[in-house]
Amino acid sequence: MTLHLKVEGIETFIDQFHILQGVSFEAQKGEVTVLLGRNGAGKTTTLRSIMGLNPPTKGSIEFNGENIAGLATYDIAGKGIGYVPEDQGIFGELTVEENMKVAIKRENEETKERLEYILNLFPDLKQFWKRKGGNLSGGQKQMLSIARAYVNNNDLLLIDEPSKGLAPIIVEKVMESIQEMKSKTTIVLVEQNFIMASTIGDRFFIIDDGRMVHRGEMQELKENEQLRKQYLGIA
Ligand SMILES: Nc1ncnc2c1ncn2[C@@H]1O[C@H](COP(=O)(O)OP(=O)(O)OP(=O)(O)O)[C@@H](O)[C@H]1O
Ligand SMILES: [Mg+2]
Repeated sequence: MTLHLKVEGIETFIDQFHILQGVSFEAQKGEVTVLLGRNGAGKTTTLRSIMGLNPPTKGSIEFNGENIAGLATYDIAGKGIGYVPEDQGIFGELTVEENMKVAIKRENEETKERLEYILNLFPDLKQFWKRKGGNLSGGQKQMLSIARAYVNNNDLLLIDEPSKGLAPIIVEKVMESIQEMKSKTTIVLVEQNFIMASTIGDRFFIIDDGRMVHRGEMQELKENEQLRKQYLGIA
């Protein structure tokens, strides 16, 4: 097991609000680590803190053994962390092709290969290559957003609720793709869809009220109905 990301006791304010009050978790290389928790628990803020969008005021964030807390977002992304935000963050007025071009930081053999790989994983993107991002379906937008984060030399992806608002059959498709990508990149997934989380997740961490309250292997959560009820509101 190689530790890829280690978040230790981060605290984050948004304006005067003390949103994260001690979030710790880690992600092992080649695994899918799932962050769970109710609405408003602090999952998105945790990802934004890692990316330096809401920089933590306390704690440390180590990526490949290097402390990245306090760096600018651009530099954090440059270290090899791709971010797929909750609202997908694609350009509606640009075509799929243009969205991909804008995402690629430096075109080389590797990005070419990665682009080919991701277009094979999401054939819809190939099919609608010239279509504007804003005219894609919800599922296709999600695929484009993941493709944009993957295409650079990123070996860690932070993906925020990819199943949100998608029909079950599309959720399944996105889920299969993420599972396939596991062999290529470490993934930290925020996901409230328990079927998705438990199917592709190796480990879980539960955030509640800005704090990490529980962690374990996914199998434990599948077997622990009490825990699911207590923190996730599902049985
Ligand atoms: N810009 C902001 N100003 C003030 N409070 C904020 C802001 N953004 C988030 N918060 C608060 O921070 C808390 C954590 O929000 P966050 O978006 O991280 O939750 P989440 O776990 O991702 O929830 P969800 O599952 O609904 O996406 C919430 O109580 C939210 O209201
Ligand atoms: Mg969120």
